[in-house]
Amino acid sequence: MNKVGEFYTPGKIIFGPGGLAQVGIEAKRLGSKALVVLGRGSMRTSGALDRLTHLLIENNLEYVIYEDIPSDPSVETVDTGTGLAKKEKCNLVIALGGGSVLDTGKAISAMVTNEGSVADYQEIEGKGRKFQYKPISFIAIPTTSGTGSEATRNAVITNTKLGLKKSIRDPWLIPKVALVDPELTLSLPPYVTAVCGGDALTQCIESYLGKKSQEITDTLALHAIGLIGKSLVKAVKDGKNLEARKNMAMAALLSGLCLSNSGLGAAHALSHPLGVYYKIPHGLSCAVLLPYVMEYNLPVVTKKLARIAQSLGENISLLSETGAAQRAIYKVKEILSQAGIKSNLSEWEIKKEDFSQLIKGAKGGSLNNNPRDTSDEDLIELLYKMTGLY
Ligand SMILES: [Fe+2]
Repeated sequence: MNKVGEFYTPGKIIFGPGGLAQVGIEAKRLGSKALVVLGRGSMRTSGALDRLTHLLIENNLEYVIYEDIPSDPSVETVDTGTGLAKKEKCNLVIALGGGSVLDTGKAISAMVTNEGSVADYQEIEGKGRKFQYKPISFIAIPTTSGTGSEATRNAVITNTKLGLKKSIRDPWLIPKVALVDPELTLSLPPYVTAVCGGDALTQCIESYLGKKSQEITDTLALHAIGLIGKSLVKAVKDGKNLEARKNMAMAALLSGLCLSNSGLGAAHALSHPLGVYYKIPHGLSCAVLLPYVMEYNLPVVTKKLARIAQSLGENISLLSETGAAQRAIYKVKEILSQAGIKSNLSEWEIKKEDFSQLIKGAKGGSLNNNPRDTSDEDLIELLYKMTGLY
């Protein structure tokens, strides 16, 4: 089938150990007063915040700090930060943190120039205002290797009033600079490393298998899947292994480019309501769902799954296409298990009675992009498997 693809990237990608040193120069190019968005303390204790603020001062920039961003940022988190940025007349946002911090910074950069609450712009059925004005400049500095938010044009925001976790999305939202310094991930604990890596792997595989897949992102996804296969377990077992950290940071960045341009699938679709109703970390539910979703998709993407097995270093020369596809699923399960991720979420005690609500929350763009169409019964089956209720 002939498809027309589109490919958006950040204005500039800076990648490599020690890359943080360039933040002052980049910030000076883009603004004069920055809102620095941070999570809950780890960047203060690691010294990364001090280095960042020093570099801003050295380049004659003013800054204001907005910190304590929770995981799964809410509408209120974004609206409060926007109020601060406006009051302080910031013309640049720099976010230093994991996916939630980057998404918050990204959303604030757009809301500073656009009216109303960020809730007005969320992709909720029948709603979703379009951004009228360009955001102020945004520099994304990831400190985990997972969401790829540094390369995407959406931000996931939790709307607690409506009990929904939905994106704001616009090409304008893509960061002006994605500054990826793998040294910032050296102190990430093993479990966070595993869960974030599981998210990146799911993003690569879902965008590669998805209906909107295209040649550019296919190439990036397969390379990133190979990097994750080689390095996730190493990064979990030895956090100081810079080579493994570098590979995971690259894979996460590529996963962001993939998902932003080619979409996701059923694992991400179901992960959003699981995050809203059970507060299950995004990467964990994605990683647990991934092998089940791959199995479900196997009949319609057998060849592509076989290609994934090759990227993961498997010798498939003596296998049938279906056998090679099954090998990819087996290998993904093995990597996730060695990284310490369980094969189901039984300990989260997800209730059968909530399935219909979870399925309702899963409907939307990611589910529509899944290569094999899903009925509600199919989703129930996936939920039974991943919750351990079978
Ligand atoms: Fe994700």
